[in-house]
Amino acid sequence: MDTISTYLTKDHRDCDEVFASLENAVADNNWDLTNTLFTDFLKDLNHHFSMEETIMFPAFEEKTGMSGGPTAMMRMEHEQMRSVLGQMKEDVDAKNADHFFGLSESLMMLMQQHNMKEEQMLYAMADAHLGADVEGIVSNMKALEKN
Ligand SMILES: [Fe+2]
Ligand SMILES: [Fe+2]
Repeated sequence: MDTISTYLTKDHRDCDEVFASLENAVADNNWDLTNTLFTDFLKDLNHHFSMEETIMFPAFEEKTGMSGGPTAMMRMEHEQMRSVLGQMKEDVDAKNADHFFGLSESLMMLMQQHNMKEEQMLYAMADAHLGADVEGIVSNMKALEKN
C-alpha cells in the first residue's frame, strides 16, 4: 500500500523525468517536441501541486491545526515555480533556448530544494499525523484528474 511519502515521492521522480526530456528537446533544438513536452510537464507538475494543495495539505492542516506552518511555505514555493513556468512558456513560444536554460536552471534548483523539504520532512510528518486517514487521502489523490 502506498503512503503519502511513497506515492508523492514517486510522482516527484516522474515529473523530474519529463523535465529532463524537456531540457533535452530544447538542447536538440527540437521545438515541436519541446512544445509537447512542455505541455506534458506543465500538466504533470500542476497536477502534483493540485494533489497537495487541494487534498493532502488541507487534510494535514485540519488534523494538526497548523495552517501557517510548513504547508503555507510549500504553497508559496508552488507559486514561485508557477511563475517561473509562465516565463519559460514565453521562451518556448519564442524558441529562445539560451533564456530558457537560465530559467530551467532556476526551476531545477527550486524543485530540488522544495522536493527535498517535502520528502524529508512534510510527507513523513503527514504520514505520522494522518495515520488511519492516509489510505483515503492517497486514493483521493490518485483519483484527481489531470487537466
Ligand atoms: Fe509541493
Ligand atoms: Fe511535492
